[in-house]
Amino acid sequence: MATYKLFLAPGDGIGPEVMAEAEKVIAHFNAEGGARFETERGLVGGCAYDAHGASISEADMGRAKAADAVLFGAVGGPKWAGVPYEVRPEAGLLRLRKDLALYANLRPAVCYPALASASSLKAEVIEGLDIVIVRELTGGVYFGEPKEIIDLGNGQKRGIDTQVYDTFEIERIGRVAFDLARKRGNKVTSSEKHNVMKSGVLWKEVMTALHKREFPDVTLEHQLADALGMQLVRWPKQFDVIVTDNLFGDMLSDVAAMLTGSLGMLPSASLGDVDAKTGQRKALYEPVHGSAPDIAGTGAANPIAMIGSLAMCLRYSFGLGEQADRLEAAIASVLAQGLRTRDIAAAGEATISTSAMGNAIVGALKG
Ligand code: IPM
Ligand code: MG
Repeated sequence: MATYKLFLAPGDGIGPEVMAEAEKVIAHFNAEGGARFETERGLVGGCAYDAHGASISEADMGRAKAADAVLFGAVGGPKWAGVPYEVRPEAGLLRLRKDLALYANLRPAVCYPALASASSLKAEVIEGLDIVIVRELTGGVYFGEPKEIIDLGNGQKRGIDTQVYDTFEIERIGRVAFDLARKRGNKVTSSEKHNVMKSGVLWKEVMTALHKREFPDVTLEHQLADALGMQLVRWPKQFDVIVTDNLFGDMLSDVAAMLTGSLGMLPSASLGDVDAKTGQRKALYEPVHGSAPDIAGTGAANPIAMIGSLAMCLRYSFGLGEQADRLEAAIASVLAQGLRTRDIAAAGEATISTSAMGNAIVGALKG
């Protein structure tokens, strides 16, 4: 039987609480016997800073690299507001993304029928919604140099971030989006700001050429990022796959998450290239929601985005599509039964705790 090595980085805030629920699901699959998962835990984020003075230790970085996949919770919180920029909690996550070369971030926004009324939008706008945002994750303004604050010497300072994209970075994220679209609705919407940004001009040029050369059978459209934000809340069902840069992808995926009823619902996969020798690709799976320090420790967190991220891991890293389908069906079934954590409950509706939600999903898996 195949054995898969998972590196678990629960992180800060509600991270450990939602990770504990994903671990129940892992234990269930181990007991079932269709595949064997070995887990190792490490520290990333503020918890790593408290332990080692760095947002991830070299030892944990090594463990993450050696694993078949990384499962990540969330990082950050007010406790670390004053720590130096280089070792802030988020730096640990950014280093994992960069050093593992996880350039393709897939963020599906799927509206579960039972939650159509939990969205802030009208039910008919989001019922049946099934879109994926493909966000470039290792380039753009997140990593571009120079990135600094300089003293101008006249009582003024200047903050600088650099938005930069090379042809190959746009092509490889474009390929991920077009390949994915072929397995879905066969449509890609590419988004940038070519009306004000040179990197946007190049982005549009490269996507257009790539489409013509390698993917003429897929429908390609372009939308400016601001207009796309508007269209996402006006009529999101017009989209299938959206491909965009690191910063626009960060913003637009938060918007897309809220369409589905709660940020607590959205999983994500961050993927690198397939290694020609091993046939494996480096990968990290994480919920899109953050560490939510305001509710940490109260049992109010929604573990569905974390458990959904595990489902993506089964599908994309291990080819366990059957298990992934069953896990996603288990999530849909507990929602259909009316079980709700606080974030997805309508006013006056009864709510259950993080761990009760995890137990219910494992219960549904057992059938
Ligand atoms: C995300 C988060 C991160 C990002 C933070 C925690 C660095 O917002 O994954 O969307 O900005 O990429
Ligand atoms: Mg974000």
